[in-house]
Amino acid sequence: MLLEASGLTKSFGGVTAIADLDFQVPAGLVYAVIGPNGAGKTTLFNLLSGIYRPDEGRLRFAGEDLGGRQPYQIARLGLARTFQNLQIFFNLSVLENVMVGAHARGCQGMVAALLRTPAMRREERQIRAWAWEALDFCGLGELAARPASALPYGALKRLEVARALAAQPRLLLMDEPAAGLNDTETLAMRDLIGRLRDQGITVLLVEHHMGLVMRVSDRILVLDYGSRLAEGTPAEIRANPQVIAAYLGGEVHYAVE
Ligand SMILES: Nc1ncnc2c1ncn2[C@@H]1O[C@H](COP(=O)(O)OP(=O)(O)OP(=O)(O)O)[C@@H](O)[C@H]1O
Ligand SMILES: [Mg+2]
Repeated sequence: MLLEASGLTKSFGGVTAIADLDFQVPAGLVYAVIGPNGAGKTTLFNLLSGIYRPDEGRLRFAGEDLGGRQPYQIARLGLARTFQNLQIFFNLSVLENVMVGAHARGCQGMVAALLRTPAMRREERQIRAWAWEALDFCGLGELAARPASALPYGALKRLEVARALAAQPRLLLMDEPAAGLNDTETLAMRDLIGRLRDQGITVLLVEHHMGLVMRVSDRILVLDYGSRLAEGTPAEIRANPQVIAAYLGGEVHYAVE
């Protein structure tokens, strides 16, 4: 298993955002996490990426226990993420934004950067190469020199992915990559997620767009009040009476084509 959570619990004051959660993600899949607003999806991502510490439970990623690790240490193990509310530097160019992501994987410290050591210069070249690769992969190569502030929203969502991808992750956490996208942009995002998996990157996908989730995911975990309501293939989840009652209800729209 690439990722394993057991007994994971996180509360904020009186609110239990994640409650005794167990799940396992095999390498190479698109694994979706769905659930209503406030179900704990973003909190789960914050726990996985080390922004929050669990109150209880264990997380294992790539054979390592994540307990007590800082976000930058977890990033170096090969876990990268996108943010629901974009984390973009609007005063930097598109390429520079992606280079910031690639730096998450760099090893040279501040002193090396200031002294411009040969190792640092090698690393800079590597980071630039990773950044270009990620930009091209996300279809943003031609926009590299533009200020991020000049990009339309759909391209910003892909920039968010490119920045995470430039860190060369084994596991990519995507928090609502299709939120606010039109149908054409949603299809492009679906294609991008499929190509990430084809590259051997495991994707953990939080998304409200059920058409996208049902088509792109290999397995789906349904959260309700921070607990596991169901887990299975898209066909199993779609047919699960508990899921239909609690979440899919009447407002499911499967159309993406
Ligand atoms: N930093 C925080 N402080 C206090 N409460 C929090 C914090 N982060 C999350 N919560 C609470 O934890 C619960 C889960 O929130 P979370 O953001 O993880 O939900 P979500 O599933 O991502 O929802 P959405 O689909 O709206 O993005 C909510 O009740 C939320 O108010
Ligand atoms: Mg959220």
